[in-house]
Amino acid sequence: MQLHISPSLRHVTVLPGKGVREFIKVKVGSRRLSYRMVFYSLLFFTFLLRFVFVLTAVDTIDGERKCSTIGCLGKRLGPRILRRKLESTVPEVIYQVFQEAVSQDEIQGPGVPQTFDEFVAEMKDSRLDAKSFAVKLKSMVTLLEQKTRTAKIQEYLYRHVASSSIPKQLHCLALKLANEHANNANARLQLPSAEMVPSLVDNSYLHFVLASDNILAASVVASSLVRNSLRPQKVVLHVITDRKTYSPMQAWFSLHPLTPAIIEVKGLHHFDWLTKGKVPVLEAMEKDQRARSQFRGGSSAIVANNTEKPYVIAAKLQALSPKYNSLMNHIRIYLPELFPSLNKIVFLDDDIVVQTDLSPLWDIDMNGKVNGAVETCRGDDKFVMSKRLKSYLNFSHPLISKSFDPNECAWAYGMNIFDLEAWRKTNISQTYHYWLEENLKSDISLWQLGTLPPGLIAFHGHVHVIDPFWHMLGLGYQDNTSITDAESAGVIHFNGRAKPWLDIAFPQLRRLWTKYVNFSDKFIKNCHIRPS
Ligand SMILES: *[C@@H]1O[C@H](CO)[C@@H](O)[C@H](O)[C@H]1NC(C)=O
Ligand SMILES: *[C@@H]1O[C@H](CO)[C@@H](O)[C@H](O)[C@H]1NC(C)=O
Ligand SMILES: *[C@@H]1O[C@H](CO)[C@@H](O)[C@H](O)[C@H]1NC(C)=O
Ligand SMILES: *[C@@H]1O[C@H](CO)[C@@H](O)[C@H](O)[C@H]1NC(C)=O
Ligand SMILES: *[C@@H]1O[C@H](CO)[C@@H](O)[C@H](O)[C@H]1NC(C)=O
Repeated sequence: MQLHISPSLRHVTVLPGKGVREFIKVKVGSRRLSYRMVFYSLLFFTFLLRFVFVLTAVDTIDGERKCSTIGCLGKRLGPRILRRKLESTVPEVIYQVFQEAVSQDEIQGPGVPQTFDEFVAEMKDSRLDAKSFAVKLKSMVTLLEQKTRTAKIQEYLYRHVASSSIPKQLHCLALKLANEHANNANARLQLPSAEMVPSLVDNSYLHFVLASDNILAASVVASSLVRNSLRPQKVVLHVITDRKTYSPMQAWFSLHPLTPAIIEVKGLHHFDWLTKGKVPVLEAMEKDQRARSQFRGGSSAIVANNTEKPYVIAAKLQALSPKYNSLMNHIRIYLPELFPSLNKIVFLDDDIVVQTDLSPLWDIDMNGKVNGAVETCRGDDKFVMSKRLKSYLNFSHPLISKSFDPNECAWAYGMNIFDLEAWRKTNISQTYHYWLEENLKSDISLWQLGTLPPGLIAFHGHVHVIDPFWHMLGLGYQDNTSITDAESAGVIHFNGRAKPWLDIAFPQLRRLWTKYVNFSDKFIKNCHIRPS
């Protein structure tokens, strides 16, 4: 759409296309008409800006707006643009109309034009007075604005649903494997076999821990880890899963062994430490999950709020997302207790792919620190690498602001080296628990998103920064990541919504993950899991 106004404001030309042109090309000739035409033109101009604004709002509505009502926009833009001669030409009545609240009836009333074309047609046919003109204009723009907003929120809701639900193919895989577990003795092998059990507590092996309830994802992490390992016979992978996924997970790894690597599959219910007596953190997490499911009335109440900005709604939906708060995500805070004999482990998330031999991670001198992690505030990718403590914690809260520096660099979960020996000398787990309780007490106002924020707090001062090569983030966040960069990273992490096992994954990045899925496998095939 093009808008042209002659300097004298004698012509206002808009070129949106067919039919509209003649109407808008207003010639302000006659003296008698000029005032009226001038303010109509002005209004029109204001309106068009607004209209263009509404159109662009689809892209920018996420951000802050300086002006969120049409009255405000009109007042700001109108007089400034036309200040020279026309200061007094816009009657107060127009501003009054713009500034009055619009009732829902007005917007839904029969007289409101639904589109720009309708509006133009109506203006052409009827000679409205200033007030009716303004009312009509305002109703229409408000209506368009509401439509845009609704569309945006729907989009967020769909994305939320798409990223938090389990695709039916993955569900199918779990069911088929559970069935296999029940009917096929080969799917119930002790993992690892009896003669390999001593290696599970032997610190001369390289121990990796993966906590996941997603079998396909776990299989990709495992096979990418083992295939890229220079000494797979030294690799021990401890797969931790929940009670419901235990049998299918065991079936998968019984039928798909990655020898000579050693794989252990364990359900949470197999850990003595978690089952005997009360574990305070588990209790806190249960409370946390309960609180979150009621948080702000749940997702329907959040979406129903029609005064909130769409991006705020998106953030609130995300806070409810089960994947950020699942036990599988919190479990890493118990690593020293879950693996009492081990000194050092590498903890892997299930949305990563290993692309290189990871044994050099054991040679990194951690300087007595507990957690080896990559930083997330420096790097070429400004979008992904812009995370500081203030990105995760609520610094408006005195408890946070008095304890931490908002500009301190954040670090990432996904691929961490944990020195369990050093960890056992700290009170990191108690600190974690303490802050989870504080967050609950303050009605989830210290942070909203899952397990990284309390991790940032608990590991504060205990982090050793490792080279970004070891952990490249952002592949589920945006598709800007160049495939060359991704290919050259040691570990890639599909953090973000676009998980590689979902339809919403970015196709060009997804193949780095699908590379490790065997599409000829009968379970994969029978569940219609396809390369794209
Ligand atoms: C909508 O959100 C605003 C801002 O958080 C809040 O003040 C208002 O009470 C909410 N309205 C409803 C109906 O929940
Ligand atoms: C993607 O890259 C382009 C060009 O480098 C940049 O302009 C754009 O802002 C980036 N998008 C995101 C989401 O980072
Ligand atoms: C952790 O230990 C430090 C020093 O040993 C102490 O100052 C701090 O209060 C402890 N935190 C918790 C939550 O126990
Ligand atoms: C941040 O903390 C302040 C102060 O307690 C609180 O009013 C605000 O709601 C919190 N923000 C969020 C997003 O929870
Ligand atoms: C993929 O699965 C097929 C069928 O089970 C098997 O024959 C083949 O060896 C597997 N390929 C790899 C690379 O594991």
